[in-house]
Amino acid sequence: METKRLTPHNVEEAAKIIADGGLLGIPTETVYGLGANGLDPQAVKAIFEAKGRPQDNPLILHVPDESWLERYCEDIPAVAYELTARFWPGPLTMILKRRDNVPDAVSAGLDTVGMRCPDCAVTREIIAKADVPVAAPSGNASGRPSPTTAEAMLEDMEGKILGIVDGGSCTVGVESTIIDLTVEPSRLLRPGGVTLEELEEVLGEVAVDDAVRRLLAPGEQPKAPGMKYRHYAPKAPVTVVRGDPNMTAGYIVARMGEKSGVLCFDEFQGYFRGHSVVTMGPVNDQAQQAREIFEALRAFDRLEVTDVWAQSPDDEGIGLAVTNRLNKAAGFHIIEL
Ligand code: TXA
Ligand code: MG
Repeated sequence: METKRLTPHNVEEAAKIIADGGLLGIPTETVYGLGANGLDPQAVKAIFEAKGRPQDNPLILHVPDESWLERYCEDIPAVAYELTARFWPGPLTMILKRRDNVPDAVSAGLDTVGMRCPDCAVTREIIAKADVPVAAPSGNASGRPSPTTAEAMLEDMEGKILGIVDGGSCTVGVESTIIDLTVEPSRLLRPGGVTLEELEEVLGEVAVDDAVRRLLAPGEQPKAPGMKYRHYAPKAPVTVVRGDPNMTAGYIVARMGEKSGVLCFDEFQGYFRGHSVVTMGPVNDQAQQAREIFEALRAFDRLEVTDVWAQSPDDEGIGLAVTNRLNKAAGFHIIEL
């Protein structure tokens, strides 16, 4: 199959791909998505096949605005609309009780469904035009870092999808925050573009799922099935070093091998001369680190490295999402200084 490059001017053609049951790469503010008609079990099945995604991992539905929530969800708590008023369109996915019209293929047998309204006008237009909710996981092959450009998505999906809409680089760079509103207190299942601190301003107490901060023991089940899989990982093993950036840079220099790669803050590049160095933005600019983290992880697969050492951002704000992705890439192999 030939994958057609579309632009934001091709809304009509893009919507037709969705309406006809095809697979379409869609831009969002977080990462590119692999979209299909979320009401069509065959189309949804094709998403799983293209990604090589385990069947027990549910998909989220993308809608153009909060008025669509009622169509696919029931028992919607009032607080859901407080969240949409403040954060939609934007990088927040809400887990709600689903209606029976949501196919089992989307929810992987759960009685809930994730709902998201992306902050990307062209994608909302495509969904509205197709007049169906769009099921879309991140547009990477399962296990790979999520794509933040159309080119990155094509590395994994060329020939497997009918088209991709090139909307430029994603402005957030890590996936949406997932909040489960079906439990009390509400539970953060995946940190993302909307920060925990921002959610607490609306919800008060927010529980943080264990899978966010640590590796689950065998047999432990995270609430977001996707959080249990090894993810975002370059082929070379990654070690994360946490602590003051001057200390972590010194620690890595002293231990790295000849063919080790390094993921570091821009300011520390000079420490690692002669090595394969990939930067992830300035030490104090977490928004930039979020935009760069996935491309940085992808870059190591193009370099000949035996292993990767990474400086770690701190957990404040969107840093919680960046460290979560980095720690998962490292299989939670973390050294605390
Ligand atoms: O930013 C995003 O959310 C991107 C863009 C494309 O919108 N999408 C995305 O989808 O990251 P995906 O499938 O790569 O990640 C969705 C995560 C998975 O970990 C999945 O297990 C979890 O959400 N999830 C989906 N439905 C769920 C549900 N009903 N209950 C709990 N977790 C759910
Ligand atoms: Mg994903």
